[in-house]
Amino acid sequence: MSQPILVLEGIEHAYHRTVAVRGVSLTVQPGEILAITGPSGCGKSTVLHIAAGLIRPQSGTVRLFDQPMEGVGDDDRARLRRSKLSLVLQFGQLVTELNGLDNVALPLLLDGHDPREARRLAFSWLERCGAEALAEVEPPEMSGGQAQRVAVARSLITSPQLILADEPTGSLDSIGGRELLDLMIGEARGSGAALIVVTHDNSVAARADREIRLLDGVIASEAVLV
Ligand SMILES: Nc1ncnc2c1ncn2[C@@H]1O[C@H](COP(=O)(O)OP(=O)(O)OP(=O)(O)O)[C@@H](O)[C@H]1O
Ligand SMILES: [Mg+2]
Repeated sequence: MSQPILVLEGIEHAYHRTVAVRGVSLTVQPGEILAITGPSGCGKSTVLHIAAGLIRPQSGTVRLFDQPMEGVGDDDRARLRRSKLSLVLQFGQLVTELNGLDNVALPLLLDGHDPREARRLAFSWLERCGAEALAEVEPPEMSGGQAQRVAVARSLITSPQLILADEPTGSLDSIGGRELLDLMIGEARGSGAALIVVTHDNSVAARADREIRLLDGVIASEAVLV
């Protein structure tokens, strides 16, 4: 059996006096689609940010791509994220000074790819995400749903092994959201990538392989879906 892509064990985390996560353990296998659900403030984004190595938990361990994250410095975390992982964050993730096309091309440009090729590929991802009209638009002029389409295009351009998405379709109407999620699921299924998607939307969660429901910082229930 292949190694898990992500293992969280006994994760606890507080912001000042607010305890956000209190003892979360979970394992994600390559190719698995996991939905994390639960009411606002239950710790979903915090768990996702810990999984991505953006937040260091106060206790517990994170093993990402079979590598313990405790001793890994910020630069190496960033490199690891760029090479194997994609994030679609809940808030303000696009670079405001870059147009839609360059936002999508950015991970490839940062990795030294040929700029023309990176932008050609970025345009094709914008098209697939229904966002080609945003190629020359800068993020402050985009609606929330438009910015989400661009962020999803950027998350898929690198063929990541793990996609972490925090309410990636929360600002879209139901049809647009469904299409974008179908694209993400299709890409993950096609490439064998794992996808962890935080959502409030039951119809999104229903299309995952497994759903974990958080309540007040703990896993309240877990369901394997078929
Ligand atoms: N930067 C922060 N500083 C202080 N408290 C925070 C911070 N981020 C989150 N919290 C608190 O931690 C708890 C968990 O927050 P988190 O953002 O993980 O919840 P969530 O489940 O993602 O909520 P939502 O569905 O509204 O996005 C909440 O009580 C929140 O107020
Ligand atoms: Mg959140």
